[in-house]
Amino acid sequence: MKSSQDIRKTFLDFFKSKQHLIVKSAPIVLKDDPTLLFVNAGMNQFKDSFLGLKNPKHKRVTDTQKCLRVSGKHNDLEEVGHDTYHHTMFEMLGNWSFGDYYKAEAIEWAWELLTHIYKIDAERIYVTVFAGDEADRVPADEEAVREWSRWIAPERILKFGKKDNFWEMGETGPSGPCSEIHVDLRSERERAQQAGATLVNTGHPEVVEIWNLVFIQYNRKASGALEELPEKHIDTGMGFERLCMALQGVNSTYDTDLFARSKAFITAEFGIVYDQAAEAQLIAIRVVIDHIRALVFTIADGQIPSNTGAGYVIRRILRRAARYAFSYLGAHQPFLYKLAGLVAEDYTGVFDEVTAQLDFIQRIIEEEEKGFLRKLDSGS
Ligand code: SER
Repeated sequence: MKSSQDIRKTFLDFFKSKQHLIVKSAPIVLKDDPTLLFVNAGMNQFKDSFLGLKNPKHKRVTDTQKCLRVSGKHNDLEEVGHDTYHHTMFEMLGNWSFGDYYKAEAIEWAWELLTHIYKIDAERIYVTVFAGDEADRVPADEEAVREWSRWIAPERILKFGKKDNFWEMGETGPSGPCSEIHVDLRSERERAQQAGATLVNTGHPEVVEIWNLVFIQYNRKASGALEELPEKHIDTGMGFERLCMALQGVNSTYDTDLFARSKAFITAEFGIVYDQAAEAQLIAIRVVIDHIRALVFTIADGQIPSNTGAGYVIRRILRRAARYAFSYLGAHQPFLYKLAGLVAEDYTGVFDEVTAQLDFIQRIIEEEEKGFLRKLDSGS
């Protein structure tokens, strides 16, 4: 089995070989963008380069970005735990072109990496392209269809509308048509019974989007109008946890090696046999092992729980984890803070800021847990 460490490194090395500079993830907590509380996409740190407000030194960059989707336009919080492939905090692998290469290269390289390097079976891949939108006066993306047709059979290229294939950072900001890559992880038998094309964008847990290639060419203004940008850019984002799921032959992101240690800790702590656990317990385990990462990374980047703004969002995540654990795992004592150490170890060499602040992170989490458990125990 390929380890998640190898999978991440392969991505960065691949784009390095295509003359991209490997850069660091931006902090997950945003301090200087009033339109967002947390980084919700790899492209956030490059917003000004897309808008033409900054002239980037390097025209091609790549990284893995810590993202959190718990507020605003991209908010997955309530789904997390109930399905097997959404997360609050996740890593987004990305490659960017600032006014340099465009659709042809972005599509060709995505195909090369997935099918030749990672060796995902081409028969399991579907791609979607923008069908156009009259109200925004943006035509269907025939250029993307042409580029994909060089690599993939026409019946695997599907057209979808604005909801799925027009990406926007928030209510305002960089945006453009996008092309998503979906993989069908179902068994041979299931695939023979029903074509994967019919399941794309239907919420099927084993036919999932893994990579989004965005062709940034507009700025959405506060008026709602789309303004054409002076240059065209590439912004891609691959869900790292989902990529690991596809490459490690499991059908849940929570069953990848990324969560192995925190899952083992919880099952041991609460005496649960994972394969025999009730659905409510499995949901609670997923909530906990997801949320602890969100807490650890946001606290490491400077956001502590509080009663307002971004701090309140963090407090809600912590309380959601503690409540699920209290109700379905029988957790009546603080325990989340103990998981922080495992997260730190898992990301050593990738996000060392967690290890550097581990004591502080554990103290904050334990204090919050204690306070909240007192409330839960007293039934208030
Ligand atoms: N901005 C796109 C996304 O977040 C691709 O990086 O999906």
